[in-house]
Amino acid sequence: MATKVGIIGATGYNGLELIKILLRHGDARLAYLATRSTQRPLISSVHPSLLGLCNDRAEHIDLDKIAERSDVVFLGVPHTAAMEYVPGLLERNVKVIDLSADYRLKNAKTYQKWYNHEHTDEGNLARAVYGLPEIFADEIREADLVANPGCYPTAVILGAYPLIAEGLVEAAFIADAKSGVTGAGKKLTAATHFPEANESVLPYKVGAHQHSPEMVDVLSQTTGKEVKVEFVPHLVPMDRGIEATMYFTPAGGSDAQDVAATFQKHYAEEPFVRLRGSSFARTRDVSFTNFCDIAWTATDAHVIVSTSIDNLIKGAAGQAVENMNIMFGHERTEGLL
Ligand SMILES: NC(=O)c1ccc[n+]([C@@H]2O[C@H](COP(=O)([O-])OP(=O)(O)OC[C@H]3O[C@@H](n4cnc5c(N)ncnc54)[C@H](OP(=O)(O)O)[C@@H]3O)[C@@H](O)[C@H]2O)c1
Repeated sequence: MATKVGIIGATGYNGLELIKILLRHGDARLAYLATRSTQRPLISSVHPSLLGLCNDRAEHIDLDKIAERSDVVFLGVPHTAAMEYVPGLLERNVKVIDLSADYRLKNAKTYQKWYNHEHTDEGNLARAVYGLPEIFADEIREADLVANPGCYPTAVILGAYPLIAEGLVEAAFIADAKSGVTGAGKKLTAATHFPEANESVLPYKVGAHQHSPEMVDVLSQTTGKEVKVEFVPHLVPMDRGIEATMYFTPAGGSDAQDVAATFQKHYAEEPFVRLRGSSFARTRDVSFTNFCDIAWTATDAHVIVSTSIDNLIKGAAGQAVENMNIMFGHERTEGLL
């Protein structure tokens, strides 16, 4: 039977990507598109690219109705808003996949420090499973609350985890990453306004980006090492895409062949990781796909790894559907290839 899907935040960028993926999903159907608006707009008037593809209206957020109609609800809303809905949805026996940051960090104090907001649903933090299928597929299968990873952490963790776990590199490294402007969501800000973002590259939140603790937590927990990441994000003038270049200090004389063997060992069976050796990817090569492309080389000083994803697909909506597929026993790739 088709999995019935509700989306809160259906009018946003990830809302659109979720709808597009789910419209072509053979084992799922849209059951409730939710917005704070009470106007019941046609979703194709909000997202004109859906004209002729989806005749649904976006309906006001009503947890009773959403739960009645849905098996699973995606939350494509800002952080701090998601935790207002999660307890009510779980109480109504609906599974939840939260695209925001609200359930990614296990420690409420760490959350408060980095997101400048008290966590109001501390009790469900331990229940949330981090939704990175390449590492946590078994836990995701059993989960009723999935914290979908951040876009930058997806790119960085996929590139760093195997090398640190296998002891090929030191656990302290530099991650220099670039993101397209959709990473900031649909609402306009001074920094993402066209004339501000176009023809310019902006390093921002250097050493202070809220995705740093997420990378550190997950990598430390999964490798058993005290991981340190010097993370420098940049806003670049493109619509979508993330590229992360990581600089590692080799441990024990490891070279590019060792790196290749390690990535092969961890990812050979993974449907959404493409190993490219020294053929470095453009973000364009993964745009609109759920792939993470990984390339690498070794110099005298460093092992250098580059990962590329689409921030809205593998970095958000695509990975969220991948998680749904695992939770509901569908083909992992359904709707995503
Ligand atoms: N953009 C990315 O690349 C990316 C990647 C990974 C994760 N994420 C995360 O995914 C979530 C959605 O991101 P996005 O880029 O899709 O954002 P977006 O384009 O700004 O859309 C967010 C939607 O949430 C709704 N919303 C806003 N405030 C709300 C509130 N207080 N309560 C309920 N709904 C509210 C709005 O819909 P209405 O006005 O119709 O209610 C809006 O359309 C965010 O938490 C973001 O951090 C984004």
